[in-house]
Amino acid sequence: MTAFQSPVDHRAVLARYGAEVPRYTSYPTAPHFAAGTGGALWDELCDGLDPEAPVSVYMHVPFCDRLCWFCGCHTKQTRRYDPVEAYVGSVVAEIAAFRRRLGFSPKLGALHLGGGSPSFLRPDDLKRLSEALHAAFDFAADAEISVEIDPSDVTDETLSGLRALEVTRVSIGVQDFDPAVQAAINRPQSFEQTRDVIAALRASGLVSINIDVLYGLPLQTPERLDATVEQVIALQPERVALFGYAHVPHVKKHQTMIRTEDLPGSEARFADAARAASAFRSAGYEAIGIDHFALHGDKLAKAARSGTLRRNFQGYTADPCDTLIGFGASAISRFAGGYVQNTVPTGLYQGRIAASEPAAERGYRLSQDDMIRSHMVERLMCDFALDLGALSDRFGVAAQPYVREALRLAAIDPDGLVEVTGRRFVIRPEARSLARTVASWFDAHLRSGEARYSKAV
Ligand SMILES: C[S@@+](CC[C@H](N)C(=O)[O-])C[C@H]1O[C@@H](n2cnc3c(N)ncnc32)[C@H](O)[C@@H]1O
Ligand code: SF4
Repeated sequence: MTAFQSPVDHRAVLARYGAEVPRYTSYPTAPHFAAGTGGALWDELCDGLDPEAPVSVYMHVPFCDRLCWFCGCHTKQTRRYDPVEAYVGSVVAEIAAFRRRLGFSPKLGALHLGGGSPSFLRPDDLKRLSEALHAAFDFAADAEISVEIDPSDVTDETLSGLRALEVTRVSIGVQDFDPAVQAAINRPQSFEQTRDVIAALRASGLVSINIDVLYGLPLQTPERLDATVEQVIALQPERVALFGYAHVPHVKKHQTMIRTEDLPGSEARFADAARAASAFRSAGYEAIGIDHFALHGDKLAKAARSGTLRRNFQGYTADPCDTLIGFGASAISRFAGGYVQNTVPTGLYQGRIAASEPAAERGYRLSQDDMIRSHMVERLMCDFALDLGALSDRFGVAAQPYVREALRLAAIDPDGLVEVTGRRFVIRPEARSLARTVASWFDAHLRSGEARYSKAV
């Protein structure tokens, strides 16, 4: 038996390359953006925007009416609504300032409202945001409009607000349905409540549903996770995201409420992820990238089959736009020439908007090396393969050192994670769960800086 036919020893791989690698929702990853450079870079990158090329928009809502202890998102719990209303006013002003800066209305191909919990917004505020966006952008007739939803927020008012926004897809947090796990993460949410919210969303014509499930949660046993997966399948969402819980209490203080001794170890996490993935596949879902599943007819499944899947800050997407404009505190924008991230603290963000200053705080200008590596990392994360011929077609002679680098890495790969067939550098099917590790081979920034990442599996 050759090394390429042997099973992959995940433990050996994680010991060799380290268990903590980026999720590569961008390359370089956000910790490498430089503080204080965002405003000037944002201004410069706006000049390079092509008025004819459609853009995507991300809008961040950093508020929730509850605080789940596992949460790694930029959000804060608020019991009063007036800060949320004031924040929406700032986002409206930021959108108008962007439009003034450009002097034209870009075409909008996709809009995503994330958080936090955008479902916490009152219909009036959703309407204000929608009007501001329609005044600044030229919406495509088939624009994808997606919203992240905490089902515990959803009322008849929420549904009418989402309908007015013409939402095409909602993403619902489930995590785990087991009451003991929910108690350990401070997130009570019954199956019945989730089922009823999904039925109401579907009855409102909000057709496509995504559900988020987490493995690696405290007190989560194989039986509890399997039961959750079965219940999620019963709800028949068009898409599922299966994420590994990222425990980073050094960054997110409320995660210290989770007892480390209640967390499953690396081997259990790996086994749980593999079992859940296999259950989704057996139920007819197609595996998309490292952590998504979709029914055959869903756009994400079609994009994965045709090699046009993309990866951005929200994870996998079928949206082909190269430019993403982020609004709101902590939102990241991606331009052809670089990234900028808005300042994270909500008060600081609102202060900058009130002072008519750019909200961007951190920035990163992409070199040609970054652009080529970014493309390689994205294709590995989306296709589990790199077409070396296509890389040369895209970047010309500049691609040659990277083609040689890929061939050299494949030749020395001691764990048999990849193979080269023809002009393709391919992650073996058995090693797909280690795609982040293979992508990290091409990460020239990984060892620089103090960035800390979550577990590879
Ligand atoms: C903004 S939330 C989803 C919408 C809504 N706020 C909710 O909780 O239902 C986005 C998703 O990120 C995932 N997430 C949050 N914290 C995480 C963490 N520490 N590790 C891994 N995934 C996490 C969860 O699956 C969550 O549903
Ligand atoms: S998981 Fe969702 S509802 Fe819970 S704190 Fe995070 S963003 Fe808010």
